[in-house]
Amino acid sequence: MKLWGGRFAKETDQLTDHFNSSISFDMRLYKQDIIGSIAHVTMLGHQGIITNEESCAIIKGLKDLLDDIEKGNITFNEKMEDIHMNIEALLTDRIGKVAKKMHTGRSRNDQVALDIRLYTRDEILVLKAFLKDLMSTVLELAKKHSETIMPGYTHLQRAQPITLGHHLMAYFEMFKRDYKRLDFTYENTNYSPLGSGALATTTYPLDREFVAKTLSFSDICANSIDGVSDRDFCLDLLYSLSVLMMHLSRFSEEIILWSSHEFHFIDLDDAYSTGSSIMPQKKNPDIAELVRGKTGRVYGNLMSLLTTMKGLPLAYNKDMQEDKERLFDSIDTLKMCLPIFTRMLATLTVCEKNMYEAASSGFTNATDAADYLVKKGLAFRDAHEVIGKLVLYCVTHQTSLEDLPLAIYKSIHPIFEEDVYEAISLSTCVKGRQVKGGPSPEALSDHFKKAHHFLTLIDS
Ligand code: ARG
Repeated sequence: MKLWGGRFAKETDQLTDHFNSSISFDMRLYKQDIIGSIAHVTMLGHQGIITNEESCAIIKGLKDLLDDIEKGNITFNEKMEDIHMNIEALLTDRIGKVAKKMHTGRSRNDQVALDIRLYTRDEILVLKAFLKDLMSTVLELAKKHSETIMPGYTHLQRAQPITLGHHLMAYFEMFKRDYKRLDFTYENTNYSPLGSGALATTTYPLDREFVAKTLSFSDICANSIDGVSDRDFCLDLLYSLSVLMMHLSRFSEEIILWSSHEFHFIDLDDAYSTGSSIMPQKKNPDIAELVRGKTGRVYGNLMSLLTTMKGLPLAYNKDMQEDKERLFDSIDTLKMCLPIFTRMLATLTVCEKNMYEAASSGFTNATDAADYLVKKGLAFRDAHEVIGKLVLYCVTHQTSLEDLPLAIYKSIHPIFEEDVYEAISLSTCVKGRQVKGGPSPEALSDHFKKAHHFLTLIDS
C-alpha cells in the first residue's frame, strides 16, 4: 500500500504510478534526504515530540540504510513514487513501526525543498572548485603569453595589436564574475525550509533553528509558504550556469577558429582532439564544439524551469517536481565541461609566429599611425584620413605600412619622418597602451596581481 493510501478505495493505475514517479531521477538525493531526516528526527527527540529512544532507533536505522545504499545493496521501487517515500518504506521494513514517526511534523513539500537546497549547496562547492582550476589555468597561460603579440579583433576583422595574455585575461574576468554568481547563489540557497510543513508549519513545537544549525544553514526560510514554493535558488544556479556556459562557448568558438588552418594560432593536444572516420588528415576540435553545443541545453534548462514556475499559485504544486531534472542536467553538464575545457586549455600549443604574422599583416597598427600624426600636431580626424589613404595605397599595392618607403608617406603628408617606423612597430603599439586594463606589460602585470589576489582570497 502507498504511504498515503488510507484515503483511497482502490489502487492507482500503473500508468499513474509511472507518470507520477520521480524516483528514477530523485534517487540521487538519497544522502541529502537521509541527512535531513536525521536532523529532523534529532530535533523531534530534543523537543520531546517523540521519545529519545524512538529518535535514536530511527537515526541508527537511517545511518545503516545510508551505508547500504552507498554499498549498492539497495534498489528503489517505482511504486514508492519518490526518494522520500522510498527511504521511509525501506526504513519501516528494517526497523518496524517506529519508522512511521519519522515524518511527524513534516511534509514532503518541505522535505523536498530541503533536499534540493542541500544538494545544490554541495554541488555549488564542486562547481566552484572546478571553476577555480580553470581560472588558475587561464592566469598561468596568460602570464606565459604576456608578450605574445596577436591581432585583437572587432567584427572578426583585425583591429589593433594586443597580446594573447591580454586576450586571455578578458576570460579571467568573465570567470571571476561567474564565480561571484555562484557565491551569490550559494547564499540564496543557504536557508532551511524544514518546518514549513505542507505550507502552514505545524502545531508541534518544532525547533526550526536547531535543524537549520545542525545542517549548517545560515538561517531558516522566514515564511513557510515561501519555504515550500521557492525555487529561486534553482533558477539562480541555472542562470549562473547559463552565463558560465556562454563564456565557455565564446572561448570555445575562438579555440575552434584559432585551431583552423585559416588562423592556425594554436594546435590542440592530440589527447584533447578527435579524428574523422573518413578523412585521414582531420584533427577536429570536438571538445570545444561540444562545449559550445551543450550551451543550448543549459539555456534550455533555465527557460524550462522559468516557464514551469511562472503560472504556479502558492504554495507547492506537483509541477515543481520538474525542477530536478533541469537542475541536475545543468549541474552534470558543467561538471563535465569545466574540467575537460581546463585540460584542453592547459595542453594546447600556441603558434606565436602565426599570431605575430596575423597581427603584422592586417593594418592593426593603423590607429597608432594616426596617433603618430596627432602627436605631431594634426587633428585626429585629419590624421585618420591621411592613414586611410596610405592603407588604401598599401591594399592596392599589396604591401604594409611597415614596408612602405618614407617617400610614399611624405607624398601623402610631408610631416612624416623616419621615426614613423618605430612608432608603428607592433611592440611599440602594445607597449604604448599603458592605460589601466590595457595590453602593455605594466598594465597586464597589474591585472595579474589582482587576479592572483582574487585566487588567494577564494582559497581561504
Ligand atoms: N517528488 C516530489 C517532488 O519532487 C516530492 C514532493 C511531493 N509532494 C506532494 N505534495 N506530492 O516535488
